[in-house]
Amino acid sequence: MSEEASKAVRIGLLGRGTVGGAFAELVEARADAVAAATGRRPEICGTLTRADGDFGAILERSDLIVELMGGTEPARDYVLAALRAGRPVVTANKQLLAQYGEELFEAAREAGVQLRFEAAVAGVIPIVRVIQESFGVTEIAKVFGIVNGTTNYILTEMAASGASYEDALTRAKELGYAEADPTEDVNGADAAAKMAILARLAFHTPVTLDEVSYEGIEQIKPEDLAYAKELGLSLKLLGVAERREGGIGVRVFPCFLYGGHPLAPVAGPFNAVMVEAPEITEVTMSGPGAGGVQTASAVLGDVVSILGGEAPVHDTRGRLPIVADVSSSFYLHLEVADRPGVLAQVAQVLGDKGVSVKSVVQRGSGDEARLVMVVHECLESRFAEALEAIDALDVLRAPPRAIRVIQEEFV
Ligand SMILES: NC(=O)c1ccc[n+]([C@@H]2O[C@H](COP(=O)([O-])OP(=O)(O)OC[C@H]3O[C@@H](n4cnc5c(N)ncnc54)[C@H](OP(=O)(O)O)[C@@H]3O)[C@@H](O)[C@H]2O)c1
Repeated sequence: MSEEASKAVRIGLLGRGTVGGAFAELVEARADAVAAATGRRPEICGTLTRADGDFGAILERSDLIVELMGGTEPARDYVLAALRAGRPVVTANKQLLAQYGEELFEAAREAGVQLRFEAAVAGVIPIVRVIQESFGVTEIAKVFGIVNGTTNYILTEMAASGASYEDALTRAKELGYAEADPTEDVNGADAAAKMAILARLAFHTPVTLDEVSYEGIEQIKPEDLAYAKELGLSLKLLGVAERREGGIGVRVFPCFLYGGHPLAPVAGPFNAVMVEAPEITEVTMSGPGAGGVQTASAVLGDVVSILGGEAPVHDTRGRLPIVADVSSSFYLHLEVADRPGVLAQVAQVLGDKGVSVKSVVQRGSGDEARLVMVVHECLESRFAEALEAIDALDVLRAPPRAIRVIQEEFV
């Protein structure tokens, strides 16, 4: 054994909950493998929880800090202090990076140490590493995917069993796929934080959480999923970061996909992310989106990368503006009076606004009927105007429901 192989790397662990606990166990279990791969043997030299430990003392005796506390304060103070003290940092904290990424990257740059955060986005999928390293000089056009496992489980369950949103959420909690307070997952905020991070990396531009628009899945009805099945569509909560004329768009929204789309079969609590660029066409990766040991494994991977040497470059190539009004295709669900001429009336309003219909399903039930259609891509602002005009029609029995659709059909 070389002299180097016997040298320890002392890890200061901030937080020992679901991920921190699994990480501590994994470090012990894989210490030999890490030593063989990097020449440094990892050991936990101190742990901070709410009840125990002193940050200053842990920092003093550590070579590297792993932050698995969550939240923005005091995590931000601790991470900044660690970087400024010359300690590389690994974190799984998406909120921290989405809100204070620029400040943290700057501190890491100034101190000449690494800040790694693979586990903050899409669980085990090594998307951060792939974007930063494999595609570091690729002109990425779009990064998008399913970056929240809780909502993907709920939508999968609703589609498979016809369960209501509430019942599917209850089941997700029973199975441990949803937290006791799932608000940030189901309203899209969790996915928005991850997309802010991915957009920043993909487009080399500062993107903060407040620049990402998001919608959740709370309003989705089982009948939307049933009709969608007839139209060959499946529903996902998508995060999309893309180059647009004049800037970029970064958004989270529920979205229907056609059957052949690579993200359509991604079921249950899994995540999947696609990267598109002219020279790579498209790459899709999928895997578990969360879980203690899975997340801990991504954290340990970052530790190994730091011990291995070269840091990825967090370069910023100027600020790109956020383009809010983009083009989308939509699914439109209308509850209408069951009388002749209603479809023509709706089609007229859509036509007047320049919105064209791709497909329609019509069902009569008593004196009411359902009109379910998919419209071709159009500016979202124009579709919103059409929706307002349709809502004002006296044949409408309930407010119209619209959900975006990705038209692209993959073969
Ligand atoms: N759970 C997942 O599957 C998952 C997946 C991806 C990313 N993450 C991220 O990983 C991080 C940790 O998540 P988790 O699920 O492991 O959280 P958790 O189970 O709630 O554990 C948090 C740990 O941090 C400690 N802590 C919290 N605030 C503290 C403070 N102010 N001072 C000192 N210690 C504090 C807690 O101490 P006590 O033990 O004393 O309460 C606990 O040990 C979060 O950023 C989360 O977003 C989690």
